[in-house]
Amino acid sequence: MTQKQWGGRFAGTTDSRIEHFTESISYDKRLYRHDITASKAHARMLARVGLVTADESASICAALDRISSRIEAGDFAYSTALEDIHTHIERALIDELGDLGRKLHTGRSRNDQVVTDVKLWVRDAIDELDDLLAKLQQACVSAGDREQGVILPGYTHLQRAQPVLAAHYYLAYVEKFERDRERLRDARKRVNVLPLGAAALAGTSLPIDRHAVAADLGFVDVARNSLDVSSDRDFLLEYVFTLAMVSLHLSGWAEEWIIWSTTEFRFVELPDEFCTGSSIMPHKKNPDVLELVRGKSARAVAALNGLMILVKGLPLAYNRDLQEDKVALFDCHDTVAACVQIAAAVIDAARLRREVIAERLESGFLDATTLMELLVMRGMPMRSAHEVVGKLVRLGEERGCRLADLPESAFAEAAPGVGSAVYEVLGVPRALAAFRSYGSTAPAEVERQLSWWRDRLAAG
Ligand code: ARG
Repeated sequence: MTQKQWGGRFAGTTDSRIEHFTESISYDKRLYRHDITASKAHARMLARVGLVTADESASICAALDRISSRIEAGDFAYSTALEDIHTHIERALIDELGDLGRKLHTGRSRNDQVVTDVKLWVRDAIDELDDLLAKLQQACVSAGDREQGVILPGYTHLQRAQPVLAAHYYLAYVEKFERDRERLRDARKRVNVLPLGAAALAGTSLPIDRHAVAADLGFVDVARNSLDVSSDRDFLLEYVFTLAMVSLHLSGWAEEWIIWSTTEFRFVELPDEFCTGSSIMPHKKNPDVLELVRGKSARAVAALNGLMILVKGLPLAYNRDLQEDKVALFDCHDTVAACVQIAAAVIDAARLRREVIAERLESGFLDATTLMELLVMRGMPMRSAHEVVGKLVRLGEERGCRLADLPESAFAEAAPGVGSAVYEVLGVPRALAAFRSYGSTAPAEVERQLSWWRDRLAAG
């Protein structure tokens, strides 16, 4: 029979069904490294304030290191009877050190311990994800470099709208992932506040030094209100929100490329190594990887939703519901980190089918809006120019030709006095070259932004 941490109060032993129902070791074991890091900082602080001696603290830290090595070597037994990783490590310490091991939990509770561990874990996860997003941005910038000069049809409502440079397209995603990285940096500020020492809920009458622990663990501040701390999972929800946001960005991109890889579009060539075939249809090459990136966003959004429901209506302070937070956190992190890595690999390996794109670029009147803007520059009120070009588009549709193929007389009639100047912006490459606003797809602007991103990402 395993001795429980609360053994003094209880005459009866825990029902094994209850042990199975209440355990978290099956998933919180992955917090072991962070649990040991936090415990060592706690032990050093206990010595500092005289609650243990320096020798005792050193022995505790050395024993914790040995436990860590055993866990890493796979030489560590887990049991649902010990509920969670905190209890496992404390028990292993007591097994090694006897009564000295029983001193480690002085001035802390599992309630502040578990939030501290999770904060340390999330802080690492944020740094890892930030790095993966930077690599994904790098893949997008390289693709923009590779596809220099390639013009794509830009869409709204999935209808052809205006031309955009391929690099402009890739940089659009770089911006989205940059906002995600900003969200990570911002969330990290609130992660970086130490919970430990809030104890169960009210703090402690022991002379602990929380600021020393914060400095030891690299936290920039100490949580002010002990009662708030053990129920605070805001930081975790913020991180999972950011993960969900990343996955939403990726799902849009994946959808776009699924469409682009259809026979109808044929805009992008996915390498065989990134596709799967069909067990019955010999000709098939399916974009399953992109579909899974799109599909896995459901898991990320569900994790966020689940966490919001989990904390809804929880009274102060710690409630056992909170143990469930890690299931969603870990799954969401693993899922989104995998998607980000795969997306970068796909973007690196894929090639735009330039000929197919170029062949069809002149259909869909991508130059119409630029023509309208030319008329505006010539003094025509915008609404009138819109109408005039609308009529010209109709004429082009009737004749089955581009705006550039309409005779000068058609333009002279619609917009007296404009003359052959219209041809300066007609045809997609000329229309594209006419762009000039900040942030637009103007070639010089895109080149400037590409080089800005190259430098920025190289600087790290
Ligand atoms: N296994 C628990 C969790 O992950 C640790 C905290 C338990 N605290 C308690 N008062 N039962 O949330």
